[in-house]
Amino acid sequence: MKKRIAVIPGDGIGVEVIAEAVKVIHASGAVVETTQFDWGANRYLADGVTVPADGFRMLGRDFDAILVGAFGDPRVPSNIHAKEILLGMRFQMDLYANVRPVRLLDASLCPLKGVEPKDVDFVVIRENTEGSYTDAGGVFKHGTPDEIAIQEDINTRKGVERIIRYAFDYCERHTKSDGTQRKQVLMSDKSNAMTHAGGLWQRVFKEVGEEYPQITSQHMFIDALCMQIVRDPRQFDVIVTNNMFGDIVTDLAASLQGGLGMAASGNIRPEKTSMFEPVHGSAPLIAGENIANPFGAILTGAMMLNHLGIANESGKIEAAVLEAVRQKKTTQDIGGSLSTQQAGDWVAKHLG
Ligand code: NAD
Ligand code: IPM
Ligand code: MN
Repeated sequence: MKKRIAVIPGDGIGVEVIAEAVKVIHASGAVVETTQFDWGANRYLADGVTVPADGFRMLGRDFDAILVGAFGDPRVPSNIHAKEILLGMRFQMDLYANVRPVRLLDASLCPLKGVEPKDVDFVVIRENTEGSYTDAGGVFKHGTPDEIAIQEDINTRKGVERIIRYAFDYCERHTKSDGTQRKQVLMSDKSNAMTHAGGLWQRVFKEVGEEYPQITSQHMFIDALCMQIVRDPRQFDVIVTNNMFGDIVTDLAASLQGGLGMAASGNIRPEKTSMFEPVHGSAPLIAGENIANPFGAILTGAMMLNHLGIANESGKIEAAVLEAVRQKKTTQDIGGSLSTQQAGDWVAKHLG
């Protein structure tokens, strides 16, 4: 059956890289139907609409998956459209697991000395519906010397438990690129300073971990984790953390893969319409130049196809990107000399 994909390119380089991802998906022979939506800064500036009425319900009802570019435009300094569209999708469609694989395709892409592809092969499972992203809080005595700004960090038992369980289930069901079983889940928090939230994460992690005796449970404070990821990425397998720490640590981890232009992600709600997007943003400084790296978006497309059960075509896309990297048929950020479109074309023409 033809899978229906909603495509929301968004702003800046999101538009450029998603065009390449869609091109490659169709070239792979995947039996899908794509429908484009113009949600983003231009639409907002034209008619004030961020998400059309009933938009999220429509996505969940009419589509099997959503492919998204990025949101962020200097003409919308409040970033309201990004908040309403991107965080809106994550929160209102309850896409609670943000799955961000960190895989090095070729040693030449990694800034660390002596690190090979097999050494960087972990996944960050980021809580995606609560934490400090809920917008709970407010500003009191705005603009006065007595101003108070409060940004709450919301951690529910349900939210913490389901993301930790997702991480253990993911570990149980996935192998590394070399075919070996994943076997360790590391929970990262800041429970030494943020004791209320961290205490809940610690207790739930221990409880859920006991249900998976074959998986090793480990813990690391988030500051130490950042240091260790750079010092020796070999130690990591599945990492689970909260919304904000997951945001930060995945940009750091992207640099081990060759930069933000290489990193893919899925915003998953099991059994429901899920959303896939590259980890990077709209990169306004390079937007419109046809130089953005489309591989993060293309690999995101492959991740989406795999999620939809279109595994063969997904594998072909991943293999073609790997070959492009090996042959330096890439954009400048990772050492090649191709434009965004040329890099996308190369992958589309080398799908085996
Ligand atoms: P960014 O990811 O857009 O860019 C960070 C740096 O990485 C820049 O130097 C950029 O040129 C480079 N970069 C990013 N993607 C690249 C690619 N595909 N190829 C080559 N280089 C690439 O992050 P930022 O600069 O912090 O944010 C810019 C805007 O994007 C902001 O409005 C921000 O809020 C938004 N943003 C949106 C998302 C999203 O929609 N998912 C994610 C992150 C940032
Ligand atoms: C990401 C982005 C978003 C986030 C921003 C644009 C709100 O940085 O998807 O990583 O913080 O989640
Ligand atoms: Mn981010």
